[in-house]
Amino acid sequence: MRASGLVFAPIDFLLVKTRKSNQSRLNLMVLILHGVASCLLIIFSFCPALRPWMSEFSHPGVKDFSQLALDLSSNQLIVGCILHSWLMIIWLLTNQHICCFVPQATEWVPDEDTKRSCQSKGKTEEECQNYIRVLLISGRTLFTCGTNAFTPVCITRQIGNFSEVLDTVNGVARCPYDPRHNSTAMVTERGELYAATVIDFSGRDPVIYRSLGNMPPLRTAQYNSKWLNEPHFVSVYEIGRFAYFFLRETAVENDCGKIVFSRVARVCKNDMGGRFLLEDTWTTFMKARLNCSRSGEIPFYYNELQSTFYLPEQDLIYGIFTTNVNSISASAVCAFNLSSITEAFNGPFRYQENPRTAWLSTPNPIPNFQCGTLEEGGPGGNLTERSLQDAQRLFLMNDVVQPIAVNPLLTQDDLRFSKLVVDIVQGRDTLFHVMYIGTASALKLGTLTAAGITSRSAAPPSKRAPT
Ligand SMILES: *[C@@H]1O[C@H](CO)[C@@H](O)[C@H](O)[C@H]1NC(C)=O
Ligand SMILES: *[C@@H]1O[C@H](CO)[C@@H](O)[C@H](O)[C@H]1NC(C)=O
Ligand SMILES: *[C@@H]1O[C@H](CO)[C@@H](O)[C@H](O)[C@H]1NC(C)=O
Ligand SMILES: *[C@@H]1O[C@H](CO)[C@@H](O)[C@H](O)[C@H]1NC(C)=O
Ligand SMILES: *[C@@H]1O[C@H](CO)[C@@H](O)[C@H](O)[C@H]1NC(C)=O
Repeated sequence: MRASGLVFAPIDFLLVKTRKSNQSRLNLMVLILHGVASCLLIIFSFCPALRPWMSEFSHPGVKDFSQLALDLSSNQLIVGCILHSWLMIIWLLTNQHICCFVPQATEWVPDEDTKRSCQSKGKTEEECQNYIRVLLISGRTLFTCGTNAFTPVCITRQIGNFSEVLDTVNGVARCPYDPRHNSTAMVTERGELYAATVIDFSGRDPVIYRSLGNMPPLRTAQYNSKWLNEPHFVSVYEIGRFAYFFLRETAVENDCGKIVFSRVARVCKNDMGGRFLLEDTWTTFMKARLNCSRSGEIPFYYNELQSTFYLPEQDLIYGIFTTNVNSISASAVCAFNLSSITEAFNGPFRYQENPRTAWLSTPNPIPNFQCGTLEEGGPGGNLTERSLQDAQRLFLMNDVVQPIAVNPLLTQDDLRFSKLVVDIVQGRDTLFHVMYIGTASALKLGTLTAAGITSRSAAPPSKRAPT
């Protein structure tokens, strides 16, 4: 295999999609292994007989396979990557098995003026390329955003012919300037874009921003560290009437030293923003801490969320949590029931009257907040049922979201997990939750059943012989 000689850096992306076509069940997994000089994209699937099918793609000089999107209606896997310039490559998958590779690419590079201007601001040539950071399928179109030499831009393209540009919009507040920044984005069923990123060149103005579609653009309060404090955004999901964001950030409510907490934040999709107060700003923003820790008299906390996976069939959010990079390395997997997240959001708030006072618990004025409906208020009416004064000061929940089990589902010392995906597999008489976990050098498999968890390490996939 061409993989020999490749030095493995962390597995960067894993993805499993399950689809049921007639009787057969297709599980597709994509791994990206970053090497020193290039990276490798491996796709393998488990056919009904659980025989791994594997295929790989690498190309000299290709690096930063950054985003993947799977279009099940046309059986295409869309990949964003970089090869001196930008390319997108697709694989066509047949109905039953993933058989044929039909790479298709289009170039997407910053123009010379943009590159020069980027370099004149002190950025390197490497940084002044176009890194694709948003790749979303919406109906028959593909929404793509790239850093474009620190001048973010978004292009809507035609699936089937990426060269066909349908629309170009400014990428600010949708895509970061700096390719290293941890951002996330999604398009809702109704076509609104929710992006969690930074809105400025220096990366000091974080934002959760809604745009496009038919709703008014809204953002989180600007330069207000109580709303978002040096956040790293991990993921976003559309669930019911809400958009849920998963992130880690420096805790504002902690008085004793700097510490990072993991959070779930949410906003109502029908939020119209405030009037006079909180103009163009969310009025439904709330956030809560996630607890992933080893129990004991003094619990050991895995504070930093790295990756999540949402299992809609069970309303479970799986998360990878690690210790801080300056601490000893340790990782854990915790799962959170959506109902316990809702419970925390229905509970009291935590509020600080002024910077000299402590954060105190304060009752929730609307304990079972539901977002309201468009009909109730009429267009432009009072949709969010929250008083704007409350919305401005009450957004941090007092209660911490506790995971489904007292202890993490899986822990590992001396290792940092990076990504996970979870698949449900029908055993003879139980359902198994199979976790695939990416670490610095290997793919780890964990199987979760009602009785507990067993885990074993798999060899790096490239070391296995293809079948
Ligand atoms: C794709 O779109 C481009 C730009 O509109 C056009 O020039 C090209 O012919 C199209 N290719 C195909 C295969 O339709
Ligand atoms: C983004 O997250 C990764 C993984 O946690 C981390 O290594 C990296 O430093 C983060 N990026 C920035 C710009 O801090
Ligand atoms: C987190 O969970 C542990 C284990 O159940 C518990 O001991 C601890 O009090 C919890 N911490 C918070 C902040 O809720
Ligand atoms: C999640 O919560 C719901 C409602 O409380 C409960 O019925 C369900 O069993 C929980 N799921 C898990 C996996 O704990
Ligand atoms: C919206 O509803 C809240 C709470 O019921 C009320 O305090 C506020 O005045 C209303 N705002 C408008 C613009 O009607």
